[in-house]
Amino acid sequence: MIRRYDFGTPIRTHAVVQTLIPETAPMPFFTVEQQSPEVSFTLALHRDDVIFGLGENVRGVNKRGHLYHAWNSDDPSHTENKASIYASHNLLLFYGENRCFGVYFDDPGDMVFDLGYTHAAEAKITSREGDLSVYVIEADSLTALCREFRGLTGRSYLPPKWAFGYIQSRWGYASAEDARFVVENHRSRHIPLDAVCMDIDYMEDYKDFTWAEKHFPDLKGCVSEMKKDHIRLVPIIDAGVKQQEGYSVCDEGLEKGYFCKKENGDPFIGAVWPGRSYFPDFLREDVRAWFGSKYHLLLDAGVEGFWNDMNEPAIFYSPETLEKAYEAADRLRGVNLGINEFFQLKDAFTGTSNSMEDYRRFYHEVDGRLIRHDKVHNLYGAMMTKAAAQGFHAYDESKRFLMFSRSSFIGAHRDGGVWQGDNCAWWSHLLLNLKMLPSLNMCGFLYTGADVGGFGCHTTEDLLLRWLQLGVFTPLLRNHAALGTRDQEVFRFDCWEDMRNILRVRYALIPWLYSEFMKAALEDGMLFRPLAFDYPGDRLALRVEDQMMLGADCMIAPVYEQNARGRYVYLPEDMLMIRFRSDADYDLVPMEAGHHWIDLELHEMPLFIRRGHLIPLAKAAEYVDGIDASHPVLLGWIRENTAVTLYDDDGFNASPVLAEGLRTISVTVEDGCARSVQADCSRLVID
Ligand code: NOJ
Repeated sequence: MIRRYDFGTPIRTHAVVQTLIPETAPMPFFTVEQQSPEVSFTLALHRDDVIFGLGENVRGVNKRGHLYHAWNSDDPSHTENKASIYASHNLLLFYGENRCFGVYFDDPGDMVFDLGYTHAAEAKITSREGDLSVYVIEADSLTALCREFRGLTGRSYLPPKWAFGYIQSRWGYASAEDARFVVENHRSRHIPLDAVCMDIDYMEDYKDFTWAEKHFPDLKGCVSEMKKDHIRLVPIIDAGVKQQEGYSVCDEGLEKGYFCKKENGDPFIGAVWPGRSYFPDFLREDVRAWFGSKYHLLLDAGVEGFWNDMNEPAIFYSPETLEKAYEAADRLRGVNLGINEFFQLKDAFTGTSNSMEDYRRFYHEVDGRLIRHDKVHNLYGAMMTKAAAQGFHAYDESKRFLMFSRSSFIGAHRDGGVWQGDNCAWWSHLLLNLKMLPSLNMCGFLYTGADVGGFGCHTTEDLLLRWLQLGVFTPLLRNHAALGTRDQEVFRFDCWEDMRNILRVRYALIPWLYSEFMKAALEDGMLFRPLAFDYPGDRLALRVEDQMMLGADCMIAPVYEQNARGRYVYLPEDMLMIRFRSDADYDLVPMEAGHHWIDLELHEMPLFIRRGHLIPLAKAAEYVDGIDASHPVLLGWIRENTAVTLYDDDGFNASPVLAEGLRTISVTVEDGCARSVQADCSRLVID
């Protein structure tokens, strides 16, 4: 059951797809305080209450004990002290003894989530602007709460099937030659690969929807040559549009008045990669239609996927903030800089980026009203993704396109996936990647993954190998790194064969992973869940944050510490551990419920299958289209006749119907022997 409560004058955010009439009775669970313009919602926490939610954010899966903000931030430092990163996913689930409810704050502006930070036994959520709808969700389980929430906010985005393949990316790939180099080095070593991401350098002077002639003299030819090799090129699109006369996107945007404006009506200027830029007012329907149609320039060249970046929006400086910094520099020139002056000078320049002053300098048009950017800040990225989705739909509504964005808001989960932004090549970020998966899934973002190997800092080969061992389970599996960091493509490392073998496990699992993903998406479910979702009565499962349930049948528990030769796991029920070294080389270890130490050499990764369940292992290939799932090997620990139902489709159809793509593989067990006409039972454990 979902009930809606309105405060102030709520702004349309596009997060919710159901129309509920606001309640007039007081809101349950919370004490509401209004101190104009702020509204606060306070709730007493019981000793054992757990708070799930907040989607893409730092710290644990249980968000209790810290302070978070809803403020989309271009912040490449995902450390524990942060309160927000690129997204605002304002969903909280309160779970404890006799307590199971969710609350969604549909507020496009700044919010503070004090979840037992100021007072350990109190959660206080504050909307700074006070214009919001609050949805209170009640159900009898965590899974049911999330399903209700998805009903409220709409079905998750469906990527094309090829987007489950391995994607190689790097900030610095600029040309057709760079892409060919990457592809050749994968193909010649039989390392699976389905796509190469092009970062900003493919463009002409960082101008959206252009490509540098010198780097791509024949873009269309290059895209089609790659496609023959089963590779897709995936270009980046940035939010800021370069200010340059003669650049058609800029000229057109200015002429039609499509860019965000300052109070005096002049277009707002902020700098990003191309220098001074304009920011399309994505909150306007006509601007979204216009910007979305620009993707057609690249779609016409055969491109089938994109990533949207810098859409918090990131602003390096504006002419105004820069001028203030120069003034500070002039004032302090020649001064003997003591503690205060030195920091004033330093902060004058570092403070120009993503400044509140700038976010208060421009306006959006929302349903005919002019609204200052800071009041709707968290919508910008989501509306850019919506523009892209509308553009794809207009181009070919029958087809799925790949789209993943950096910034997002609830609602964007219908239009695209997200990647987890600029992480670092740190072991702690491998763990953070794992922890963010279920939180993102609760909010509907199913197509997600992090920069495998780490974006910032120099990776190490053991970190990349262990990270791949997690990445093989995430729908978006992309190795991406920052300019200036060590080369981190798989083929650069001595142990590339171990990495290739792990990637082959991914490709052998894709038919099952795709099936679990599509079932989750089409049935409003989750692919990754904290253990508490599946074992609600288990007090130990409730506290586990470094293992996750995956699909209906499995649990994952990656190694996330350097030099570890294994790890502890907690099994809430009997499970079969598959210790994979490759798609063809693995051990089956039946394990009873409880705590276990498991040995895992650097090239070994575990997957746990619930007792009584089956999963198929297909014949891997070097690209998704080549995988043969017609007669898979079945893995599982069973006692009696069992079946597994898999979903499949052509991988492109934009309106798939679950029932039409299901096929059941059944196994009969007689005298301790398993047989199946559709599959190979040789690796089943029977007892
Ligand atoms: C920031 C993005 O997060 C990163 O992935 C990308 O490489 C850089 N922008 C350059 O485009």
